Amino acid sequence: MKRQTSQDILAEDFRNLLFPLHRRPFPDLDDTYELELAFYEHRLLTDDELLGNGAYFAQVGADWTRHYRICTGDALKLPDDSSRLKSFFIRNIFRTGYATHGLFPYRGKFHPQMIKALLNIMGLKPGQTVLDPMMGSGTTLIEASIMGINSVGIDASPFCRFMTQTKIDALTMSLKRAHGALVNHQEVFSYFQSKVGAPIVGSKSSGKRISKDLDRLMEPPADYNTPQRSQSLQRQDTIDTYHFLLLAYLDSAGYAERSQRKTPLAQFRVVLERYLFVAEKFQKILHESPWLLGAAKVIEGDARSFPLENASIDGIIFSPPYSFAIDYLANDAFHLHFMGIEEETLRNKMIGLRGRTLADKFGYYDEDMGSVLSECGRVLKPGKFCTVIIGTNNNQLSKVLGVPPDEVAGLHERLQEKGANYGLRIVKSMSRPITGIANTMRREYILVFQRGG
Ligand SMILES: C[S@@+](CC[C@H](N)C(=O)[O-])C[C@H]1O[C@@H](n2cnc3c(N)ncnc32)[C@H](O)[C@@H]1O
Repeated sequence: MKRQTSQDILAEDFRNLLFPLHRRPFPDLDDTYELELAFYEHRLLTDDELLGNGAYFAQVGADWTRHYRICTGDALKLPDDSSRLKSFFIRNIFRTGYATHGLFPYRGKFHPQMIKALLNIMGLKPGQTVLDPMMGSGTTLIEASIMGINSVGIDASPFCRFMTQTKIDALTMSLKRAHGALVNHQEVFSYFQSKVGAPIVGSKSSGKRISKDLDRLMEPPADYNTPQRSQSLQRQDTIDTYHFLLLAYLDSAGYAERSQRKTPLAQFRVVLERYLFVAEKFQKILHESPWLLGAAKVIEGDARSFPLENASIDGIIFSPPYSFAIDYLANDAFHLHFMGIEEETLRNKMIGLRGRTLADKFGYYDEDMGSVLSECGRVLKPGKFCTVIIGTNNNQLSKVLGVPPDEVAGLHERLQEKGANYGLRIVKSMSRPITGIANTMRREYILVFQRGG
């Protein structure tokens, strides 16, 4: 066979060897793990499935995929004018900057595009149910909803429950009254400021606390031309809008505390505008070519004991705290306080935060993660998949265990061993770089387990 020249080889695009010409992946798949996930999607999905639910493809034949349309609906509105942040978001438009994922900057949240690909690779189909037992800001639930997959999410933090529910509701809620609030943003801001410290418990009951004042401030502006809604829908609008505004307020207040660049009021307006922009962008695509969203159930609970039947779940995906790397309660102290939640009571339930010394904390963490994996093995249907995403955190572990960092068994290795005790056999381990703005850890692992039996 004639040997190919460098010129021949360089004239080829290696992507064309991975994918047929009619399936065009996104141009910015720079990381090996992304190409790998795209390759598995390509092998597993039909053209129609790829068009509806593919994560890493922009086009199939002449048609644009839904992921492409959701992401590009319009240019992205940015939270502030920092060029560093701007380039982060623009680079990540297909990875993170779409639907309602960007509502609230929760630390340690998933890349939604990767979750979409993993749901596909785990074989989840519309109508089936996926579980995220440590849902945080609800990335899995939002992504599953968009894909028509039902979901159950659990988190020990009531703030996570509130945040996730609000982000899910924002996919479909009426945005008219939030527009009214934007017009009156100064008074809405004062309303929330005066409420700081007042307990607001749960999505249903908090609706009752809305005062007449805020009701009035949320009236849509006169030129916002939409038909009248029935009384119960109007009531639902009020509650949804209240939660949407509250999340925007908490987001902006947290941001204003960290950065002094804008006044809290100006920050509130910018954040609320952005929330409206992204929710509208998604709803526009949903309205233009409707499809069935999956139902999401959001639970405040404990990942060491799920309120779920044995063998009732079609797939699990989650990311536990990376041992004690992030103090989620300290991060959320402002919001938890605002919601009237006792930080210290919650601390005892939080995996990675129990215990006094670092060695205690690690001991509890190890034990707690055993309980979580045991629950995963219990509720997963035989033959189905459980994916765990976990960072390495070797530096901290080496200090606790007194072993040099390059000799310590990483969290991913420990979890693999534990999974085996609960019928979860590891079938794939992929690693990916961590690319956030301020991360200390550089690498995390995607561990795919399969339930035996
Ligand atoms: C790495 S974060 C998950 C982030 C999530 N994947 C996202 O996209 O936002 C880990 C989460 O575990 C939660 N958590 C800690 N202990 C828990 C427990 N005992 N039960 C349920 N959730 C817990 C924390 O509140 C935190 O939200």
